[in-house]
Amino acid sequence: MAAAAARWALVAAVVVALAVALDNGVARTPPMGWLHWERFLCGTDCAAEPDRCRAAVHRDGRRDGRGGLEGSGLRVRLHRRLLDGAHAGRAGPAAGGPPAFPQRYPCTGGLQGLKLGIYSDVGNTTCAGFPGSYGHYELDAQTFASWGVDLLKFDGCNADSLELLAEGYRNMSLALNKTGRPIVYSCEWPFYLRPMQQPNYTEIKQYCNHWRNFYDVYDSWNSIKSIMEWTALHQDSIVKIAGPGGWNDPDMLVIGNFGLSWEQAVTQMAMWAIMAAPLFMSNDLRHMKPEAKWLLQNKEVIAINQDPLGKQGYRITKDKNFELWERPLSDRAYAVAVLNQQEIGGPQNFTFSLTFLGNGLACNPACCIQQILPTSRDWGVHNWVSSLSVEVNPTGTVLLKLVPL
Ligand SMILES: *[C@@H]1O[C@H](CO)[C@@H](O)[C@H](O)[C@H]1NC(C)=O
Ligand SMILES: *[C@@H]1O[C@H](CO)[C@@H](O)[C@H](O)[C@H]1NC(C)=O
Ligand SMILES: *[C@@H]1O[C@H](CO)[C@@H](O)[C@H](O)[C@H]1NC(C)=O
Ligand SMILES: *[C@@H]1O[C@H](CO)[C@@H](O)[C@H](O)[C@H]1NC(C)=O
Ligand SMILES: *[C@@H]1O[C@H](CO)[C@@H](O)[C@H](O)[C@H]1NC(C)=O
Repeated sequence: MAAAAARWALVAAVVVALAVALDNGVARTPPMGWLHWERFLCGTDCAAEPDRCRAAVHRDGRRDGRGGLEGSGLRVRLHRRLLDGAHAGRAGPAAGGPPAFPQRYPCTGGLQGLKLGIYSDVGNTTCAGFPGSYGHYELDAQTFASWGVDLLKFDGCNADSLELLAEGYRNMSLALNKTGRPIVYSCEWPFYLRPMQQPNYTEIKQYCNHWRNFYDVYDSWNSIKSIMEWTALHQDSIVKIAGPGGWNDPDMLVIGNFGLSWEQAVTQMAMWAIMAAPLFMSNDLRHMKPEAKWLLQNKEVIAINQDPLGKQGYRITKDKNFELWERPLSDRAYAVAVLNQQEIGGPQNFTFSLTFLGNGLACNPACCIQQILPTSRDWGVHNWVSSLSVEVNPTGTVLLKLVPL
């Protein structure tokens, strides 16, 4: 365990020099917002499905410009962006006409103060079969910029070859730059490369603000578990590349939906903060339990996610069913997550020495320990040879912050 910690500290120390981020001034911390895809799929056609449409933008169907985001009270803390994954559509695709501002945004006048995201694809069609941007990258970029789009989620379906995929991602990045409008560029480039080819993350970071590596998130604990495990198994290649302007994207937060227990929701929030993940909720903001809202609005966990140092956390050890993760924060602080993966037998204690954290530096000579999740608690002052014993419920996570003294 100590050896693993030492190796990680070394990696962390050389990171900054390696990765040059896309120079568009945005996503200096992981972007936050709301994205309809996991919860609503393509069902945002306001004419055909008014209720699903209004879930995204309108509260109770009132066209008063105070939509679900505002109505939920979540806007101020979490929602910088409204991201609609359902695509733009295209007027006269045969003629190569510009994308049409779709009927499914009848409510854009109500988005004052929010930022707008849009979805398209590197290929001829999107994954759902709508028109993609191939052959029209510049036209689409200009059109999106003219609509005031702040984020483009660019999918990688339907590219005939890996060369076209890579060229398409690069060309769209250059096209966005040419518009002169800073637009967060959300890529899926490494995910589509991976089956065939090891992604070159140095290059990807030069073109994208964040990038998906692994499968879509589902509303289930299995999905959350598989994303965390994939991330831990690939941390040697992906953690060092993350930083201001460029982030690994483990996909949306599904907190507030149907598939996660309370413990599992806490785990997703804590681990997405440790992983420096973009925080895009995909849920129905009108129908969320107060505890889900509390979790999504928790200022301390958001502060860890948004830490200006911008280093992604990593797993230090997996000890039977316990996992210990840490993330270096600014001002020499550390976030530490203790995750209990044992799905039988009730709460368990995990005892670990603080010497193992931050390669021995996290609590040296002493630190103040605050528990942030699942409830806040003051653990007081500890010195670097202390042990900590934390009780964690099955599939839950205890998130701590260590502040050096
Ligand atoms: C475009 O790229 C240049 C060079 O990297 C950079 O200085 C500029 O800020 C970029 N502009 C936008 C809008 O991304
Ligand atoms: C789009 O379709 C054209 C015509 O079939 C094809 O030549 C081109 O390679 C396709 N684009 C991509 C990105 O696959
Ligand atoms: C990317 O841009 C270059 C230079 O304009 C062009 O030659 C190439 O065909 C483009 N590739 C794609 C996939 O759009
Ligand atoms: C990865 O991309 C970078 C930047 O484009 C380049 O300098 C480097 O040679 C590439 N690495 C490999 C292994 O292709
Ligand atoms: C965990 O340790 C604490 C403190 O020693 C103790 O009070 C608690 O009962 C233990 N929990 C379990 C599940 O063993």
